Amino acid sequence: MSGTAAGLRLTVLGAGYLGVAHAACLAELGFDVLGVDTDAGRVSALSAGNLPFFEPRLEPLLRRGLESGRLRFTTSYAEAARFGEVHFMCVGTPQRADSPEADLSQLEACVSALGPLLEVPCLVVGKSTVPVGTAAALAGKLARLAPAGPAAELAWNPEFLREGHAVDDTLRPDRIVAGVQSRHAEAVLRRVYAAPLAAGSQFFVTDLATAELAKAAANSFLATKISFINAMSELCGAAGADVAVLAGILGADPRIGGAFLRPGLGFGGGCLPKDIRAFLASADQAGTGESLAFLREVDAINTRCRARMVDLARDLAGGSLAGTVIGVLGAAFKPDSDDIRDSPALDVAAALHDLGARVTVYDPVALDKARQAHPELGYAGSAVEAAADADVLLLLTEWREFTEADPEILGKVVARRNIADGRNALDEEAWLRAGWDYRALGRPYRAATSQPGPELFARADRGI
Ligand code: UDX
Repeated sequence: MSGTAAGLRLTVLGAGYLGVAHAACLAELGFDVLGVDTDAGRVSALSAGNLPFFEPRLEPLLRRGLESGRLRFTTSYAEAARFGEVHFMCVGTPQRADSPEADLSQLEACVSALGPLLEVPCLVVGKSTVPVGTAAALAGKLARLAPAGPAAELAWNPEFLREGHAVDDTLRPDRIVAGVQSRHAEAVLRRVYAAPLAAGSQFFVTDLATAELAKAAANSFLATKISFINAMSELCGAAGADVAVLAGILGADPRIGGAFLRPGLGFGGGCLPKDIRAFLASADQAGTGESLAFLREVDAINTRCRARMVDLARDLAGGSLAGTVIGVLGAAFKPDSDDIRDSPALDVAAALHDLGARVTVYDPVALDKARQAHPELGYAGSAVEAAADADVLLLLTEWREFTEADPEILGKVVARRNIADGRNALDEEAWLRAGWDYRALGRPYRAATSQPGPELFARADRGI
């Protein structure tokens, strides 16, 4: 393989969240990178330095890569095949429209397009989340299609980045998983990831199947942790206990840990929901579905969070939603992202609308996407505008702009000071002091005038 400053010429196939972050970060590390996407509009936007989605810190990196000449984008697979010594496949594997299974058509198309063009030895590296066995099947297909034969080798290197943290997670990942079929493939991946490895990222060398499972298992564990605390939230709601305090107590045990134990509206986005369903579906097909049956409950608990939030809003509205004015803060599935795929916030907003409420949504960056997906909802240009005349205000995505909002200012514009905190992210005491009735799933009802309960003193003592 010929060399450049950093040693290898790389292509990144698929210019979504994952692909663009990967391409821009690899260029930042000094590699020559060619990004490939079949969408010509996306390629020209990226070539002009414009990110087609919101991701903190990524656009400056994209521009730096373009200006340095190390990063380019194209629609041409032929150009990619000529250019690349390592090809990263970063295309999406969404949920199929007609079943819970993963839709692998973009990956299949990628290998079908690239394979016949590969005339010289190279490494093709899958990064997408896939059912176990996919990589082995694609390796066979590649060897059949490529003129280079088995010298066009396949590896699997799952990506663990979180939206909103894509740059940090790509430049400084906790761990790198290299699912390989040869020492050569391992050596190539060690060269690609030399910088994060030198900075301390752990490197796991595995077979293809273990690498595929690593991603599905990690996302399933995270989803399970979130649904566990939300199941506790259901119990706390029934018992009059406080799930926020309970989560603090559980998280204080280092064997459990507090991360991904934040109760509330549950998980959404383009990964966790579809990944647990696809994992379950592939296990069912392989006859090992019993091992993952618990994921059905994880999914069900998560879906119930949204219905419980609608019930909470109805309670705050006084028992009926018809004609109620509701302000919704947040549309993205999580803060620091404009991604609305399977967004709990938008799901709740749409359900409230369907039940007769007049719903107005505000989000700092996801409004355009939300408007396209849910034209039936009202939209506002600010939190204050969304709150205007509201009988109930809902915090559904914990953007900092909302968690730091002044309850006095919002209190002046609403019709009634009712706040439902869907993410357990607000300073409850501040909102109570400002005369709001504060509600959150799995927590005792606290009216504006009520005195702090013993659990609040406990929380203050513990610094929670
Ligand atoms: C996830 C994985 O974290 C990442 O490793 C993988 O590569 C892709 O899928 P992402 O979808 O970007 O990343 O979001 P993440 O930060 O994991 O949050 C997922 C959802 O869980 C969000 O809707 C978030 O609001 C929710 N969540 C998270 C909780 O409800 N409670 C928590 O404690 C943590």
